[in-house]
Amino acid sequence: MQGNYKALWLSDDMFDECLEVIDQRQLPFIYDTKYLTTTEEVVSAIKNMTVRGAGVIGSVAAFGIYIAAIEVEGDYEALREKAALIRASRPTAVNLMWAVDKMMGLLKDSDNLIEDARAFAIELNDKEAKESQEIAKHGCDIIEEILKKKNKTKINILTHCNAGWLAVIDEGTALAPIYEAKRRGIDVHVWVDETRPRNQGASLTAWELAKSEIEHTVITDNMGGLLMQKGEVDMVIVGADRVSANGDVANKIGTYLKALAAYDNEVPFYVAIPASTFDFEIRDGIKEIPIEERSPDEVQFINGVDEEGVLRRVRITPENSPALNYGFDITPAKFVTRLITNRGVCEADFDKIREKFKKSDA
Ligand code: MRU
Repeated sequence: MQGNYKALWLSDDMFDECLEVIDQRQLPFIYDTKYLTTTEEVVSAIKNMTVRGAGVIGSVAAFGIYIAAIEVEGDYEALREKAALIRASRPTAVNLMWAVDKMMGLLKDSDNLIEDARAFAIELNDKEAKESQEIAKHGCDIIEEILKKKNKTKINILTHCNAGWLAVIDEGTALAPIYEAKRRGIDVHVWVDETRPRNQGASLTAWELAKSEIEHTVITDNMGGLLMQKGEVDMVIVGADRVSANGDVANKIGTYLKALAAYDNEVPFYVAIPASTFDFEIRDGIKEIPIEERSPDEVQFINGVDEEGVLRRVRITPENSPALNYGFDITPAKFVTRLITNRGVCEADFDKIREKFKKSDA
């Protein structure tokens, strides 16, 4: 792992080595970390979104297999049961299933399960970090092209949810080109969708960008369309939780509406992803990608700090009004200008994706 900031790391503060993660539920108000020392803790941290973001869920799952290997004292059959629990902890981000399957495949013939699990998890995370750096470069090349084409010196980028270093090791996906733009001295401003109901944009993306001193403005989820009509968005970059073989994109709820607005306003809509976000088994994202349904509570209540700085959770709907809370939506491939991948820019099209990412080596 090479970035300046980390969402997770190995810690020897406890009896056995364990995983330490930033508790993302409390940001931006409180910076706190949690130790994950058992499979149960790993599963619950993923479910309750102590850790979130497709890539980081995969990374935690990989280290979760290491923690589980310690728990079962190196017994592969017992590890399979633990792995199944980790694999089922959230349904939409395919990086989770990818990481668990990859780890279990690598460990199948291991004579030294615990040590190997540790080494493979580190290897997998180093691969993710490298891919994030590659996405940064390819994405930033596009930023430069857009500026050149428009003969502008400042770029306005709209993003949805959080796809930075809190979401994907090492610098994220959608935010990686933005960090690279800052390194290249490009004048960049980011429109940050608040991303109801959990507000990952307002709380996490804004926090990340502020920490890196990148100019940004938090906007309500419904404002992007107007800004596009006013010519104030040069491009959209989002991450993804799963991309089907034909290029349909599952990402945080509300992404699809941004893609529609972008299409109508001829604003280029990019999706930044590492190889682990492809699901080559799925040909039709709309019909086949499982969409997580979360508790209505997340819609009915909102978290924040009051004027005294006390963290509070308050209800914002009438007590008897039911709420529905799908966590993700699908943006059909036809609305995606290009995928920004670790292997370069790619059309969201079955044959083009296949060409770049042969199933065997992705
Ligand atoms: O529910 P979350 O916070 O895990 O959802 C995260 C997102 O939707 C991100 O945009 C997505 O993971 C892309 S970054 C890998």
